[in-house]
Amino acid sequence: MAKPKIILDCDPGHDDAVAILLAARQCEVLAITTVSGNAPLAMTTANALLMCQLAGLDIPVHAGADRPLLVPAAHAPRAHGATGLDGPPRPDVHLEPASNDAVGCIIETARAHDDVWLVPVGPLTNIALAIRQAPDIVERVAGISLMGGSVGPGNVTPTAEFNIWADPHAAQIVFGAGAPLVRMAGLNLTHQLCVGPNESATLRASGGNVAGFVADLFDFYLAGYRERAGLDAAPMHDPCAVLAVTHPELFTFGARQVAVETIGELTRGMTVADERPGAGTMPNCEVAYSLNAAAALELIIDAVCSRD
Ligand code: BDR
Ligand code: CA
Repeated sequence: MAKPKIILDCDPGHDDAVAILLAARQCEVLAITTVSGNAPLAMTTANALLMCQLAGLDIPVHAGADRPLLVPAAHAPRAHGATGLDGPPRPDVHLEPASNDAVGCIIETARAHDDVWLVPVGPLTNIALAIRQAPDIVERVAGISLMGGSVGPGNVTPTAEFNIWADPHAAQIVFGAGAPLVRMAGLNLTHQLCVGPNESATLRASGGNVAGFVADLFDFYLAGYRERAGLDAAPMHDPCAVLAVTHPELFTFGARQVAVETIGELTRGMTVADERPGAGTMPNCEVAYSLNAAAALELIIDAVCSRD
């Protein structure tokens, strides 16, 4: 069967890096677009290029928005380090971005194909700008599968998840765009797909260069979750959004109306999902509630180990 065509919009990011490898294995990745998020844009772009170089991926990387639509830029050094990809020794990166016009790339690609999935796994700035500039792409894409939000607790605040909190106005545009199919992998879902010392050991035992690099990424990322949250397992948030396209049968979804809080004093960036019984009559989103974590982990390990 043909692999789904996707644009991966990301802010690498440890889990974004794994999403890149997973997407490269399971999808036809037409482009990687980068956004300010876990680290400033220059770093997230360099990190996307680093992953392509390391894994020998021939995928164009287009740099995008260097700040959110309205709120000041914020990053996540506590989770991802100052580079956004702290942990392993950092090789020199020789690859260059294909352009600095991620938004143009998203629009052109969506118009050139009938069936492209947009897979945003960082703040939604690029996607919102593309929708605002070219509203026709909303109907053209196969769907939008995003990592963001939560039906439950947040991570950056008690109620908000980082990607939505970092650019709530962009998220509001995306959720409100009327796209025929939006899938949301929020924290309530992504915390079911965790990696820990066993996965690092499996990757190291495989002996590959990419696997060793990702094992070092896992160790750094896990140490942060141990310190901050007392967890001995770290969620692979972003790969969930890829898997929701490639392996939807591993998930359970519920059709919900999801809105984004942009101005709440305590709730900025909260995804408000209407879970009232009988409220599913105007759903704008398929919210992911559970997944087969063992099968998902196998796919992740396979993707990482498939590269030398
Ligand atoms: C999201 O924020 C980032 O830290 C991760 O890469 C993920 O996309 C989780 O809240
Ligand atoms: Ca991310």
